[in-house]
Amino acid sequence: MPPCVIGADPKTITSLFHIMDQHPLPSPALTGFNITMTAQEKAAMAAFLDLSSDYLTGGYKRTREEYSFNDDLTFTSSLRASVPLCEENPKNATVSPCEEKPENTPVYVKMPPTCDDPTDDSLEAIAAEIASCKRCGLCKTRTNTVPGEGVTKPLVMVIGEGPGEDEDRSGRPFVGRAGQLLDRMLDSKGKIGLSRNTNCYIANTVKCRPPGNRNPQPDEISACVPFLTRQIKTLRPKIILTVGNPSTQTLLDRTEGITKLRGSLTVFRGTLMMDGDFNIPLLPTFHPSAVRREESLKAPVWEDMKTLRRKLCELDAEYAARMADIPL
Ligand code: URA
Repeated sequence: MPPCVIGADPKTITSLFHIMDQHPLPSPALTGFNITMTAQEKAAMAAFLDLSSDYLTGGYKRTREEYSFNDDLTFTSSLRASVPLCEENPKNATVSPCEEKPENTPVYVKMPPTCDDPTDDSLEAIAAEIASCKRCGLCKTRTNTVPGEGVTKPLVMVIGEGPGEDEDRSGRPFVGRAGQLLDRMLDSKGKIGLSRNTNCYIANTVKCRPPGNRNPQPDEISACVPFLTRQIKTLRPKIILTVGNPSTQTLLDRTEGITKLRGSLTVFRGTLMMDGDFNIPLLPTFHPSAVRREESLKAPVWEDMKTLRRKLCELDAEYAARMADIPL
């Protein structure tokens, strides 16, 4: 087997199995052992390695399909990996898809920065790391990274899905048509009184544009979410407003859709994700792009904006005083 340093790359575990698959284990005569691993034992080891990988990549548990193992001596598993192998470089499967590596070099896996050991967690430092990030394939098609923007001590952190074309071009979040609607939702003619210029921070679940505005894939979200959790940790917003499915499902670790989850205030604890105990109220609502497409979503979004205002009034005396004379 080639030398392999197991790091925290999301592809590591899959890649490790891939390597093992290609290298039969030594025969019992060579090792002196004659008890083979059962499929159950292999599955337990795989679960442990997956969990370790999730912990090292920021404590965010990925959803995976079941592996299927045999009781055989050789590792002839038919893996159904949830994380795709590096399609472009299958011989060096532990190499990130964005890094070139000559063939037949030893396979070393680089440990990407995680949310547990950053040297500098200022917004600027996080943005600089995002700017040079190559943790997933989205780096290949982006024009600009889009870390986020707004005030540094926000009442509300708004979290969308991922940059679109306008955001990719400008490097700023929510600047296209959906962004303009988001700005109007947040202000609601002064009745909600929120804006990225005065009291909000706006970010996305993934920081690079998915080509053609497709949904971000689970492995792209897993790779990027440590940046988001570091931003949350640094900003400490009074409330998180998730718009749309990816941010809501990711932060709440839920699989139900936004239609079911919207409108209910919950709490983002972030214990596992963020190396600490956080209790930040979280309100999911529809994504402004969906509201643009579907007029009937305006009414529930307005209900959600009112819920947001009421909760903020409980949490922030200054905001409550400012809104006191503005009827809902
Ligand atoms: N949609 C998003 O989710 N985020 C943006 O920044 C723009 C559009």
